[in-house]
Amino acid sequence: MILDWYPGHMKKARAQIIEVLPSIDLVIEVLDARLPASSSNPLLEKLRGQKTCIKVLNKKDLADPAVTKGWVAFFEEQHGVKAIPLDAKDRRDVGLLPKLCRKLVPNKGGKGQKPLRVLIVGIPNVGKSTLSNTLMGKKIARVGNKPAITTRPQLIDLRNGILLSDTPGLLWPVLDDLSGACRLAASGAIGDNAYDSFEVSLATLDYLAGRYPALLQQRYNLSELAATALENLAEIGRRRGCLVSGGAVELPRAAELLLRELRTGKLGRISLERPEEINDAVRQGDSRNSNLKPPATRLNGCQEG
Ligand code: G4P
Repeated sequence: MILDWYPGHMKKARAQIIEVLPSIDLVIEVLDARLPASSSNPLLEKLRGQKTCIKVLNKKDLADPAVTKGWVAFFEEQHGVKAIPLDAKDRRDVGLLPKLCRKLVPNKGGKGQKPLRVLIVGIPNVGKSTLSNTLMGKKIARVGNKPAITTRPQLIDLRNGILLSDTPGLLWPVLDDLSGACRLAASGAIGDNAYDSFEVSLATLDYLAGRYPALLQQRYNLSELAATALENLAEIGRRRGCLVSGGAVELPRAAELLLRELRTGKLGRISLERPEEINDAVRQGDSRNSNLKPPATRLNGCQEG
């Protein structure tokens, strides 16, 4: 798997967050609700120190609600953390956030109090910009220096006691755990050219066959699932007309179709990792995410070692 992040990017992103954090009262970390562990970057926990943090489990509309509930409980065991599932495109959902921020930092943001300064952070594609835009709505005003004369982060006055940093803090995806990287790729968080969609689709199919067999069967009208991911992919390709002349299945096209349909929620609400898998890893003293391989893993190019 090719990585699309470089030390230069990481250094710059880290420096930007370090620069802005001292003036921030509350951090909103946006995670993908379908894979909250793999879409997080542990660096944030180190940088934020004692600062209060809301973990937004975004794209809740695509994730398995029962699993998301488990993730909320999982994160709320952490010190200074409140977790909330959201659909960043839904104004009513996002409307709950300012109230929650003020509740968590009671000495800021109220009448007669100093404004509450909030920074949104997260890896690419988790929905930071969507969330900022929904939070800002139309009632925005820039605070501080004009952007034309400074490159420093600006603050947006949400006019509800909250100032929002206008540049979301960019974290980078952690790709050193290859099964986690596969899930990031499956979710669409990694650029198309940075992974092999065929390999990622096989790993994903293995997971789906273990966790969501009925959804797979329903979507692709399969009376039963085959023993291997490759056979299932071939059958999906056959049923969806991903064929070359002569009738053979065009597997790369079937792989892309599967991933596209997963990402757009056409297979149903699916979570790609569960807190109990994380807990197992912690219990066994493994490194982060190391126990998160799909059952009956067949990662091929995504496999470690
Ligand atoms: P980023 O700033 O963290 O990089 O993410 P961004 O807001 O650009 O969102 C990435 C993609 O995720 C966008 O889709 C966006 O619409 C989608 N998205 C964000 N929040 C949610 C959510 O809660 N639910 C769902 N289902 N999708 C969400 P896109 O296809 O890249 O762009 P667009 O065509 O939708 O604008």
